[in-house]
Amino acid sequence: MIGLWLRDRALGRAQVGYAVMPRARGQGVATDALRALVPFAWTLPELHRLELHVEPWNIASASAATSAGFAVEGLLRGYLEIGGRRRDLMSYARIRDVPSGTEAPHPASLGGA
Ligand SMILES: CC(C)(COP(=O)(O)OP(=O)(O)OC[C@H]1O[C@@H](n2cnc3c(N)ncnc32)[C@H](O)[C@@H]1OP(=O)(O)O)[C@@H](O)C(=O)NCCC(=O)NCCS
Repeated sequence: MIGLWLRDRALGRAQVGYAVMPRARGQGVATDALRALVPFAWTLPELHRLELHVEPWNIASASAATSAGFAVEGLLRGYLEIGGRRRDLMSYARIRDVPSGTEAPHPASLGGA
């Protein structure tokens, strides 16, 4: 199952969510679904940003997101209550007209003093 949530459509944003049945996992289903969803989303002219949120432990979801060209943006601390506890979520996004892999480097990769 993959979905595009259009609540913020008028603001140019949509949220992506997905889940794969346990017996079908590890075969590229989520990655393929995400790759198929992106060009569909861009057929909606008002959309400029597709965003998805991943719990930091969810390596499979993070890998699917990056394989489908979503760039990591950062950690949203205490963003959502899941199972009665506030959780941190990693933010990933794709931007219309920004080919995947050409985003500005993530600040954490720039080093510093
Ligand atoms: C997260 C989820 C959607 C991934 O679906 P999937 O079809 O198994 O994912 P894919 O087969 O496309 O694999 C994506 C990547 O994760 C890796 N992966 C798959 N299962 C993994 C696991 N258990 N541990 C670590 N990596 C894993 C794959 O090797 C692949 O890596 P690659 O991009 O380097 O090739 C699925 O595990 C799921 O439904 N989980 C429960 C719901 C959920 O977490 N939804 C996402 C919310 S943000």
